[in-house]
Amino acid sequence: MKKEERIKKLRELIEKYSYYYYTLNESLVSDIEFDKLLRELEELEKENPQYTMFNSPTNQVGSSLKNTKFTKVTHKEKMLSLSNSYNIGEIEDFIKRVDKLLEERKKPSYVLEVKLDGLSISVTYKGGKLVQGVTRGDGMIGEDVTENILQIQSIPKILKEKIDIEVRGEIVLPISRFIKINEKRLVDGEEIFANPRNAASGTLRQLDPEIVKERGLDCYFYFVVDGEKYGLKSHSEAFEMLERLGLKTTKIAEVLSSVDEIDKRIEYWKDAREKLDYETDGMVLKVNEIEYWSILGNTTKSPRWAIAYKFPAKQVSTKLLDITWQVGRTGKVTPVAELEEVEVSGSKVKRASLHNFDEIVRKDIKIGDKVFIEKAAEIIPQVVKPIKELRTGEEREIEAPKTCPICGSSLEKEEGLVDLRCINESCPAKIQGKFEYFVSRDGMNIMGLGQKIVERFLELGYLKDITDIYNLSQYKEEIEKLEKMGKKSVENLLNSIEESKKRDYSKVLYSLGIPEVGKFLANLLAEESKNIETLMKMTVEDLLLINGVGDKVAESVYNFFKDEKNIEMIEKLKSYGLNFSQEKESKVERNVFEGKTFLVTGKLVKFSRNEIKEEIEKFGGKNLSAVSKNLNYLIVGESAGSKLKKAQEIESIKIITEEEFFKIVKGE
Ligand code: IVH
Repeated sequence: MKKEERIKKLRELIEKYSYYYYTLNESLVSDIEFDKLLRELEELEKENPQYTMFNSPTNQVGSSLKNTKFTKVTHKEKMLSLSNSYNIGEIEDFIKRVDKLLEERKKPSYVLEVKLDGLSISVTYKGGKLVQGVTRGDGMIGEDVTENILQIQSIPKILKEKIDIEVRGEIVLPISRFIKINEKRLVDGEEIFANPRNAASGTLRQLDPEIVKERGLDCYFYFVVDGEKYGLKSHSEAFEMLERLGLKTTKIAEVLSSVDEIDKRIEYWKDAREKLDYETDGMVLKVNEIEYWSILGNTTKSPRWAIAYKFPAKQVSTKLLDITWQVGRTGKVTPVAELEEVEVSGSKVKRASLHNFDEIVRKDIKIGDKVFIEKAAEIIPQVVKPIKELRTGEEREIEAPKTCPICGSSLEKEEGLVDLRCINESCPAKIQGKFEYFVSRDGMNIMGLGQKIVERFLELGYLKDITDIYNLSQYKEEIEKLEKMGKKSVENLLNSIEESKKRDYSKVLYSLGIPEVGKFLANLLAEESKNIETLMKMTVEDLLLINGVGDKVAESVYNFFKDEKNIEMIEKLKSYGLNFSQEKESKVERNVFEGKTFLVTGKLVKFSRNEIKEEIEKFGGKNLSAVSKNLNYLIVGESAGSKLKKAQEIESIKIITEEEFFKIVKGE
């Protein structure tokens, strides 16, 4: 292909991909692939200046603002993007470039931050009052989303000082919120968000600020426009100023000076970022001294004083080899994608979920397709979409099964619903599924009742339905004699079963396997009903009054408690001593923190310092007063400072939030 044609083709492709990414919230290619195309175009344009165009994508940042529903606002100072790097060699090159441009006059220091995977926002305050919030848009012109950002709690409406200032940061959807929202969307039969970034982007573009409020977006700031105007000398000072004004930062801004140190910290954050409640797609390295920024200047797209280091992509492409059909505890028949093995976010993936047949039809997926798969937060890998552009004609249509792939019974598709169901009550897959669900970590968390063992116990008649689990001790001697089942493992199993009787009402409710009721709804229903008797008496109308319960769930819960078999099961479980009310919940004095040391820093939200210290001691932990190698956990609240910094340098210290602390206490 002639150079001119290739340039044209590259521009077209890049424009198309950018439009999908920024405007439609959809990625057609991975970041690496996108960058490759962009770099190729940059090279070609450099070599062939006669074809340079001012509106080439190499000169543009972000979306072209097609179809925006919001008022357009011109940025007073352009919102730049960052150039990307993918290995430490490229970081080294960046540092060399900086040194060269500074003509070795001064040795800069660097700040390493996390790169938040969300949407950038510029917020203007006048006399300390929030007056406007604008998205990046194409870097020059953005969308006015003031109404929506007013609904974001972490964006203060009034600063702690009466100051005129423009600050920039990233809007994200916390991973914990993302999981909850998707759980609920699944239950309500709505399409789930592919990842927190898409969810955040879709939310911020809502025309209804109420929805924005409900979703629980968060914002972290990392930039003060015209910092020098406020006497700022360094980027670390900017971080401090943001915090002082009441603007939330990630608190991760490490001042480093050598490539070695930078390399070590990037490696550290590659894993440590998993503990954060927001998605990160890399790190950002910035020259710390603001006075050097103007010497280094900008390219048309990005500052020469900063660079992004991108972590390996979470979305990758691979080949769809086949589809197998799985039957779950409710009889739901689910297609599972069998894939050519590929690595996603550090783990090997061979299978991914496809939810239901309608999704295959909607996404137009065929066997033999190259598909994008993604691991979003804690959700199992999913097939995002086929790459239709790469079809060869050899691909095969996927057909829905006519009979249950496990027991051969006929399948049913309820009117208006998308799922195919096996209606045979004694389908082995359904029975197995019920046990698996009951003993799972989110349920009764019983160890030692894996799939194989349940299968054997079913065959031997020790188990018929889940209530028999609490009667297994009568077969103790027989079980001990079984192959691969020593005395010790039987004892462990029986202890674990006994221990499970202490689980909270919400976990018991989850374990019952009420169709449509997952972790989120089980918690909600337990909280609202306080005990099973009340819940069982609720009519569909009563259930619908609970905020978060829709038609489908209300019907399902109501029908579940109408079924004699289920009532019988509940009565039996009650007689074995399981918790069916919130009051009766075992006030466990578990020594979860036996021998562990704690230190609290920063301002907490839910508890006072003394209260959390009491909690720590109640659960067997010890409070320390300073950061040292002997410290196991640092609990960080808002505006944590030097203690956090020091703790980040000691790898063995686990840094957790107040919320995470209580999750551990609750055994979540
Ligand atoms: S600095 C001139 N710092 O990444 C300063 N950006 O790929 C440019 N981002 O547009 C931005 N975390 O939306 C900066 N700690 C961070 C960031 C960050 C995420 C985003 C930002 C930017 C994009 C570039």
